[in-house]
Amino acid sequence: MEPADSLGRPLRNLRLSVTDRCNLRCAYCMPEEEYVWLPRAQILSFEEIGELVDAFVELGVDRLRLTGGEPLLRRDLPLLVRMLAAKPAIRDLALTTNGVLLEREAAALAEAGLHRVTVSLDTLRESTFRELARREGLDRVLAGIEAASRAGFRAVKLDTVVIRGVNEDEVADLLELARQSRAEVRFIEYMDVGGATRWSMEQVVSRAEILERISQRYGELRPLPAEGSAPAERFALPDGLVFGVIASTTAPFCHSCDRARLTADGLWLTCLYARSGLDLRSLLRGGASREAIVERIRSTWTRRTDRGAEERLEESARSPSVTPSALRRDPHLEMHTRGG
Ligand code: GTP
Ligand code: 5AD
Ligand code: SF4
Repeated sequence: MEPADSLGRPLRNLRLSVTDRCNLRCAYCMPEEEYVWLPRAQILSFEEIGELVDAFVELGVDRLRLTGGEPLLRRDLPLLVRMLAAKPAIRDLALTTNGVLLEREAAALAEAGLHRVTVSLDTLRESTFRELARREGLDRVLAGIEAASRAGFRAVKLDTVVIRGVNEDEVADLLELARQSRAEVRFIEYMDVGGATRWSMEQVVSRAEILERISQRYGELRPLPAEGSAPAERFALPDGLVFGVIASTTAPFCHSCDRARLTADGLWLTCLYARSGLDLRSLLRGGASREAIVERIRSTWTRRTDRGAEERLEESARSPSVTPSALRRDPHLEMHTRGG
């Protein structure tokens, strides 16, 4: 039987982080100078990921998203995609990438059976890219988006974290780029998750403000029905262009959250804000049977009470949720380790 958690939420959506490494250093995710990385010997092999996915499928998971860090840094990623795409229970297989390496990989990923791609794109200005991501690469990201839109995926999305004083004036330009690339852009509120050690409420551009900016420029926006339990609220411009807003900070969607995360080293987290998780790598490498693993996951999910983002909203004076020293002690608290 497929379990529901203590708030009645099913387990449907599994985000698989395939590496904690990244080739950018975005200020909202990796603002520090140095990081503690997961030991290589602890990173799950593709076979191990496949075995764990089979256990999750028994419990109701039918949607997978590959994330990082930057997932395209994982060698031979199309092989993993092929293996996961071959599982009949998986009806949605997506990838979240920063796009830097996407131009080279897009065709192979599509050919391997990847359904959808989401590219993080926060700015179209080189100087802002350099400041925000602290690396070069905007040209390559744009070429990656082009390649993805030619590769024949079911959908290409763009994720933009809107930060006051950084890119809030680029919302219309990003909508136009999305139009040109036949992609759906989603504007995301800056979140105080682990890793975002420079977060402050002043820098959050709220959903209300994002919508106000867009309607001032384009006219009245038409709200569209939600896509299942996905976090984005979708809208259409008067000319029909569709975009989304993900209001994780001011209007969290924990009440319908059916997602969980597996880190590259096999720690299973039932909330983006979770302080600890279930060590599936040790169970698997210790020789636990499929049945035993399924039962451990089931009992953990059944007891789940997580509503991390809603709890953050209830706090009166908000500040970053984790300190840099706690992140150094436990890199599993990092957003780039738990997969964006
Ligand atoms: P779709 O199926 O394409 O709608 O995917 P998605 O929106 O789940 O995917 P994506 O990885 O693009 O997530 C978009 C953004 O939503 C992330 O970058 C986060 O900022 C935020 N987000 C993703 N997962 C969670 C979550 O579990 N909780 C909260 N509060 N925010 C999340
Ligand atoms: N706030 C909002 N979104 C974030 N992401 C990472 N850190 C944050 C944050 N602090 C999301 C972005 C990025 C994806 C990989 O993770 O959407 O595109
Ligand atoms: Fe789900 Fe936790 Fe994100 Fe809320 S904060 S939507 S419970 S993962």
